[in-house]
This record gives sequence, structure tokens and C-alpha cells, in this order.
Amino acid sequence: MTNSEYAVWHGLTPMGPHLRENGPDLFLVGGSGSHLVDAAGRRYLDARSSMWNVTLGYSCEPVKQAMARQLDVLPSGTVMRYEHPPQVTVDYAAALVAVLPAPLRHVRFGNTGSQMTESAAMLSRFYRRMTGETDRHTVIALHEAYHGTGPLATALTDEPILHDYSAPVDAHVVHVSTPPPETCDPAACTGECVRPVIEAIDAVGAERVTAVMFEPVSGTSFRPAPTHYLETLIVECRRRGIHSIADEVTTGAGRVGAMTYVERLTEVPDMLVLGKGLSAGYFPLAALVVASDIYETLADPPVRLGFPNGSTTDGHPVGAASGLAVLDILTADDFLPGVRRRSAELIEMLATASKSDPRIGTVRGAGMMLGVELRDSDGELWSLRDVSALRGVCREHGLLTSYSIGVLPLLPHLTISTDDCRELVERFAKAVAAYQP
Ligand SMILES: Cc1ncc(COP(=O)(O)O)c(C=O)c1O
Repeated sequence: MTNSEYAVWHGLTPMGPHLRENGPDLFLVGGSGSHLVDAAGRRYLDARSSMWNVTLGYSCEPVKQAMARQLDVLPSGTVMRYEHPPQVTVDYAAALVAVLPAPLRHVRFGNTGSQMTESAAMLSRFYRRMTGETDRHTVIALHEAYHGTGPLATALTDEPILHDYSAPVDAHVVHVSTPPPETCDPAACTGECVRPVIEAIDAVGAERVTAVMFEPVSGTSFRPAPTHYLETLIVECRRRGIHSIADEVTTGAGRVGAMTYVERLTEVPDMLVLGKGLSAGYFPLAALVVASDIYETLADPPVRLGFPNGSTTDGHPVGAASGLAVLDILTADDFLPGVRRRSAELIEMLATASKSDPRIGTVRGAGMMLGVELRDSDGELWSLRDVSALRGVCREHGLLTSYSIGVLPLLPHLTISTDDCRELVERFAKAVAAYQP
């Protein structure tokens, strides 16, 4: 297929090479459970849940039915401005905050993770305008972070190539080293674990820093941040009047075997960003959840101006209906413990596979957000190029995956069966055995 024949322009993709390498018979035409079917009739096990978001597989009837019912009664609506918000959206917001740690009690809805990470940083800056701390602009994020794309979200994402080709990006963003892989001794902690963040704050001047944003489990390295590190980070930010923002676009809504990663912390961040699994990927839905004190400060601002941020389809009733149906599933007895059990089962199967192929290494991550280390005979982690090439071989073996530096991400849906886990590991092991670097 040639460039001129093809109408869809894919994100983050140089179209020419992809069109030359991938033909129309690879277009997806169907999906059920863990599996997808392409136009040539080939069946794949989807170990990437589309874009890590199809958390309940491709045949989740309760979500489909809730959306269909909503389409029948009120198929559209908005919370872009305060004019007759859809009832279902108001109900969904209340249900969502009820399962999140207090004081995260107010929700701005949007459609994408990028929109909401950007909203979080902008909201933090807007808060400063309203409270008179007008020098606070800088947002600190972590190296290897992915917070999406957009004027500010791209700046928050630590991918130099995106910065180079999106220039000029927001200049008031600073990146600092990733969390240490192991926790320090919480009893003896002197704040050393968050020293790179504190040094960055000091270098900018605390009175000029508005927020620190972090992913609790990196979607690049798949290393979970130690809980003590995150708690210390939140406390040190609070001590300096800086907002802490947890980006749980991937980790939230069940992906790590819990509603959120931050619920295991003793400290609650000021803002939480959710996306992907909120609607199980059945509707473009994301949310920025904000602590009560921020909402209350901005609810009655000194000038009659609302937070200048929003889009037409924010709070869409069909999205809210999908979100409510997903929440029902996630909060059902034994659902989240079941995800953790299946995760342990999958990790065990991967450990067994690694005994027969030393290139398959340790499994990183949490819940159903896993990254399998791939190592060469010297123990070195594979390059991004090799992992990307392996992904192609996985596809030939009927397995769809993502790729990252040194690790192959495995993010199947949360309800994957034991048989499908077994199939996943068999296909993966065969692909590794077949791959010649
Ligand atoms: C942690 C994180 N934040 C933000 C985003 C951006 O979300 P979206 O692709 O919905 O804009 C992603 C997407 O992968 C993500 O993983």
C-alpha cells in the first residue's frame, strides 16, 4: 500500500516505512476475550490490551450493554461548562471518588491521558495565579517519564526525540533522576532517596516550583517506585507548598491489581490522573481527580474565572456509563485479588520459561503491568532495537506486544484466563527461541 492510497495518519509513526512493511491484511477486524483477528483471518493473543487500556478484554458485555442503554436515553452531553450536566456523569464522579483515597474528591473529566496530565500541570499553575504565587511555574517530572503529547504534556514526557521535533516545548519543565530501584530504610531515612528531586527544587528555587509529577510504575522501565520514596516525595513537596501529581493513566483502574497504586501509600498526592482502563478502553475517557482544598480554593476565586481548560466531549454520558459499569466490575468481591493471583500465576509461568532460555530474565512491574527483562549471553539488557525486532517475531507467533528498552512489556487484560496466560508464555518463549539478534 502506498502513502497516497492510505487515509489514516497514525500517531508517533513514520508512515512510509510502516506502509511498506505492513499490508492491509494486518488490519484488525474482530476481537473477543484475549484474542484479536486480522483481515487475513489470523488470530492473535493481545498481550498489550490494545494500548494497555482494554483491561476487561474484548467481550465485556456489562460495559457494552451499559453504553448501549446510555446511547438510547441520552447519547451526548458535556461538562465543558456548567449547563445541564448529564446525570450519569454526576453519578459517575461521585462513585469514582468514593473508591479513591480522601481528600481526592473532585473530578475533571476528559478524553485522553495527555489531556489530563496537561490539565493537572495547568491547574497547578492556575491555582498559583489565583492565590498570588505568580512566580510558581516550573513542573518537575522524572527521567524516562511518559505523560503523553501536547504542548505541555510533551514537555513533561522525557523523550528527547519528541522534544527535538516538537520544539519549542514548554521551558518550565525540569526532569530529575528516576526513583532508586530499592527502598532505603524508612526508619532511618533522612530524605536521601528523594535527594535528586530536592536538589532540582533547590536549583530552581522552591518558590518557583508549582508541581512534581510522577508515574508510580514507570511505563518505560516497568520498575515500581518504592512506596517509601513516593511517600517522602509527597511530604517534601507539601513542606514546600508544591503540588504532587500522580500519573496513574496506566497503573490506575485495576491494572496493578488495585484501584490505584497510590492507595498503598500513607500519603495522598494532591492530584491523580486516570485514563486508559477507566472505560476498559471502550470509550475515550480520562479523569483528573483533585484534592478538596484545591477545588475549594478555586471554586470561589477572587476573579470570576473558571479554570480555562476543557473540551466539548468532557464528561460524555456514554463514557460515564462505561466508567460506572467498569467500576461495578472492579469493586466486585474478589475481582482485584483475582487480578493479583493471575499476575502471580503469569510471573510463575515466565519464571519457568526462563529456566529453559536464559535470555528470558526477571519479570518487573506490578499486577498485570509486567516487563520481562531480555538479556544477552553477557547479561546485558537488549537494546530497544532488539526488543522491537522481537516484537515483530512475537507477532509472527500470534502474540501482540509492546516494546521498551531491555524489557518486553506484557499487559494482557485483567481477566485473562489461566489457559490464555499459558498460551501467551508459550508463544513468547517460541518467539524468543526463534529470534536471532
Ligand atoms: C503514564 C501515562 N500518562 C499519560 C499517557 C497519555 O495518555 P493518552 O495516550 O491517553 O493521551 C500515557 C499513555 O500511554 C501513560 O502511560
